[in-house]
Amino acid sequence: MNYDEPTQFGSIGLMLALRGPLDLDAATLSGFVIVLLYMRGPIDLVLGAIPDVAQASVAFGRIAALSNGISAHAEADPAAPGEAGLAESIELRDVRYSFGGPGGAGGGFELGPLSVTLAKGETLFIVGENGSGKTTLIKLLLGLYTPTSGQLLLDGEPIGPAQAGAYGELFSAVFSDYFLFEELPRSDPESLDRARSYLKRLEIDHKVDVTETAFSTTDLSTGQRKRLALVHAYLEQRPIMMFDEWAADQDPTFRRVFYTELLPDLKRQGKTVIVVSHDDRYFGVADRIVRLREGQLVRDESVAPPAMQTAV
Ligand SMILES: Nc1ncnc2c1ncn2[C@@H]1O[C@H](COP(=O)(O)OP(=O)(O)OP(=O)(O)O)[C@@H](O)[C@H]1O
Ligand SMILES: [Mg+2]
Repeated sequence: MNYDEPTQFGSIGLMLALRGPLDLDAATLSGFVIVLLYMRGPIDLVLGAIPDVAQASVAFGRIAALSNGISAHAEADPAAPGEAGLAESIELRDVRYSFGGPGGAGGGFELGPLSVTLAKGETLFIVGENGSGKTTLIKLLLGLYTPTSGQLLLDGEPIGPAQAGAYGELFSAVFSDYFLFEELPRSDPESLDRARSYLKRLEIDHKVDVTETAFSTTDLSTGQRKRLALVHAYLEQRPIMMFDEWAADQDPTFRRVFYTELLPDLKRQGKTVIVVSHDDRYFGVADRIVRLREGQLVRDESVAPPAMQTAV
């Protein structure tokens, strides 16, 4: 919208034409003309601002709708990452996933078709050679990759894009290419106490403390940083925990602590645990082992409880 020159001069012409019928004297007419000439700038300014004001109003409307949506979601599901989020199982059903186009064309990789079910409270080990598809499988289980075909189900209900956000909050994950967050996921006094006890348990309390909202430092060795990532995952207190080759950077003593103390502790707490591992001497810690070979599931077996095993 613009108060342009034809409009301006048209208005002046109209005043001149109406001079006779309206009986205007020269002084009044020149006053009109001067006012019309000088009004152009301010009128242009006002008219030019109208689209911006309209856009701002639409944007404010959208922001209001979005924040209402967020608070409605928070009110409806205050304990989204809570234990109630996983009643029985998560399942991949007849799932395929491919890198490099369908069929793994162009030197790509295809996983599946395969089906895996993870029961609540179970400790599942995913094993197999480098490049066999373990990390791809857990990214599908965590809803980070969308299957090329097949379904991801939570307690028998398919997880689509609308449920993906809440579903993701069921998991705490430490990937092998993890990013270490300095900020604590929770900073209430109880969580700070808990963080200190985890730091002690993971034998890094002499290096790191917690401030009110963050770890005091992340300038640590590779293995120590990974322990800190584990503390972060613990503090999130989510029902399913996933560790992708977590123990790979740990010394033998602490590797043993991880498999024989920390993982059984998580199980006792009722956590569901997914462990990607190459440490075959500790496979006896698993309730169930899934083995992949070149993208195919070649083994899915329960492991006998330690009491029933002749040797672990
Ligand atoms: N982002 C990607 N783009 C293309 N191909 C990928 C990608 N990520 C993985 N791949 C390919 O998919 C296959 C499986 O990879 P994946 O990371 O799942 O294996 P892995 O079993 O976790 O191996 P590792 O034991 O080395 O961690 C590999 O051949 C790999 O080259
Ligand atoms: Mg991997």
